[in-house]
Amino acid sequence: MKIKNIAIVGGSGAVGMVQSWILAAAGHTVTIVSSRTQGSQRLVQLQKHGGITFHCPEFDDIAQSLPETGLSRDSFVKKFVGIKPVQLRMEKYLDQEGFTSDELISKVQLEQLIREAMKIPIGPHLNVANHVKNIEIPQDYIAVTVKATGLTKLLAQHINTIPQLPNTPVATFVNGLMPWFRPEPDFGGMRLPALHNQYEYVETLGLNRSMGGIIIKYGAVADAPGLSRVKTPVQNARTVIGPVASVEITPQLLKIKDLYESAGLSVLLPVSDRGIAQIMFEKLALNMLNSPAAIFGRNIGELLDDSLTREVVVNAVNELYEIAKTQAVYLANSRDSFIKDLLSKLENVRPLIPSTLQDIEAGRPTEKDAILRAVIDLGKKTGVHTSYLERIYELLAEIEHQALVDRTQVQPFRDKVLALLSQAAKSSKHPFLAANFTVRSIF
Ligand SMILES: NC(=O)c1ccc[n+]([C@@H]2O[C@H](COP(=O)([O-])OP(=O)(O)OC[C@H]3O[C@@H](n4cnc5c(N)ncnc54)[C@H](OP(=O)(O)O)[C@@H]3O)[C@@H](O)[C@H]2O)c1
Repeated sequence: MKIKNIAIVGGSGAVGMVQSWILAAAGHTVTIVSSRTQGSQRLVQLQKHGGITFHCPEFDDIAQSLPETGLSRDSFVKKFVGIKPVQLRMEKYLDQEGFTSDELISKVQLEQLIREAMKIPIGPHLNVANHVKNIEIPQDYIAVTVKATGLTKLLAQHINTIPQLPNTPVATFVNGLMPWFRPEPDFGGMRLPALHNQYEYVETLGLNRSMGGIIIKYGAVADAPGLSRVKTPVQNARTVIGPVASVEITPQLLKIKDLYESAGLSVLLPVSDRGIAQIMFEKLALNMLNSPAAIFGRNIGELLDDSLTREVVVNAVNELYEIAKTQAVYLANSRDSFIKDLLSKLENVRPLIPSTLQDIEAGRPTEKDAILRAVIDLGKKTGVHTSYLERIYELLAEIEHQALVDRTQVQPFRDKVLALLSQAAKSSKHPFLAANFTVRSIF
């Protein structure tokens, strides 16, 4: 039996809305679960909007390339909308509106069409629930897209409903080092303290039906009530999914793969422990830019253009590279070639504002433990120097504290950090670790 009914817990957030839209557009029945008690009350706003609207960079390309005279309906759909669920949705809408195959679509019509066709209203394919306990039973699959920081509360909320869904697979898409990652046997049997809430979550659910998910190249943004957007082309997005307890390709796992593929998303299955570790460390290398971006208040381009902040990023990635090696993960032939390649890839995403910086700007707690602390823990246990990562963590924790307590203090703190760093650069080759650049002197 194929998966038909899906609950997306955290479905009113950035990743959750994209997954909900894409799966509903492909004809599945999706229940978006969010909590009214959360600060932003996104579910309430989404209900007001009456559904989810989707936007991706491909739409802007269509608008740019469409000649004023227009294209026929069919060539418009086939030539420009290469994303399967978008194509399905657009075709259905054009049929419903009575557009014939050779009818021309003009630039003026286009904007209207995209706006109307891309809205999936709350209705037969899209339901909402304001609490996990209100998910209708049965569900064939549950995707959890809350942040790492929300898992403890979520577990407390649905602990009583778990027995009602004994066999339903639950995949958790949380960024960072994942609890399903088993460190090399030499360093084995260990738990990383920073992932405590994640171990607790997957173990309470039951390891037999817990899946871990990694999403790559998504760039999902929850713009406003019900407005879902991806900043990078959907066609490049990859979903990696695998069971927490083993690396077997189970029938359950294949069903989930089919589900995402039916919606046109590309799925990778970990074929071995090392395979999943490789993907996870590649993603972690990108995450190493998140915290410096939040500390210095800079997007990727700004971070790399300034030699002072670039040095911080490069050394953080160096330390990660060494930690990966202890886990038999070789990110490239050499550390230098890995960094060079990474930096050149980052040139394509210069305007990107990493999620940790977004969290600080919005006064939300960051995912610093899953993204950074867990990596430092692993470094410590495997004997790798983590001086840069530790200092980054300390500064991020302080910035986060300022952002939560009094946001007006964040920028003055950043200014002070930068002033002290450039002063330290006059006397040290590694100003970020220099004695005259200490966290204590910043406070
Ligand atoms: N955005 C991306 O492109 C991207 C890419 C790769 C990985 N990731 C990772 O994916 C995860 C989700 O990220 P995101 O950007 O989608 O975060 P997000 O926009 O904050 O979405 C999380 C959603 O979960 C909701 N939520 C929190 N606790 C809940 C609960 N107990 N019950 C139901 N809903 C709950 C939140 O509601 P409230 O806001 O009301 O609390 C929010 O709508 C993170 O680990 C992130 O690092 C994201």
